[in-house]
Amino acid sequence: MINKYKGFVFDLDGVLTETSKAHFEAWQELAVEMGIEVPEQTMDEVRGISRLESLEIILGYAHSPIEYSYDEKVALATKKNNIYLDKIKAYSPSNLAEGTIELLELLKSNHIGIALASASNNAPFLLKAMKIDHYFDAVVDPGSISKGKPAPDIFMKACEMLGLEPHECVGVEDAEAGIESIKSAGLHPIGIGKLLNCDEVYQDLKSLLDHLL
Ligand code: BG6
Ligand code: MG
Repeated sequence: MINKYKGFVFDLDGVLTETSKAHFEAWQELAVEMGIEVPEQTMDEVRGISRLESLEIILGYAHSPIEYSYDEKVALATKKNNIYLDKIKAYSPSNLAEGTIELLELLKSNHIGIALASASNNAPFLLKAMKIDHYFDAVVDPGSISKGKPAPDIFMKACEMLGLEPHECVGVEDAEAGIESIKSAGLHPIGIGKLLNCDEVYQDLKSLLDHLL
């Protein structure tokens, strides 16, 4: 399968490292301070969703909705990010999903382009902290994308940065919104974890690696 494609475009959170829990816990801590109770399912609801859009999901759980100005929303999202940053500050290569280095090495040795299409503004920090930044030929800046996942923009941009057509690339995602983005951009979708909207799903990155070997 591996030589059918010229590029692999990865999501980060929940694919190359398990940060989804840290994102969720940070939202939960902010919500508690605001007197909002968020259910466990929120962890899946905010997968792949930008910081400000995730805040809207959290605010949606308030019993009596409060109108916040844009600046107030930015301040709340920044507060969540500071809680999140504290949770990931000691991240190191030990936080990589099992099989990450082997998979990236396998792709490199087959001359396959490697790109990152993460909605997270913290992605460059994590790539460096986990010492995998040098494997990436392209890292999309989510700030340069006008429409986040499930829109196709971020995966299309990753292919463009690799100098490849979407049909020449695979997209790897743990979020339903991410799989939608991959599909509408025209890459081959591969899901990680539990996904209902993708035909090719592996329980984790190691299982994908085993399949490719
Ligand atoms: C995605 C996560 O990768 O990045 C989302 O799955 C998160 O949960 C989004 O909201 C934005 O991340 P950040 O780090 O810029 O707040
Ligand atoms: Mg993800």
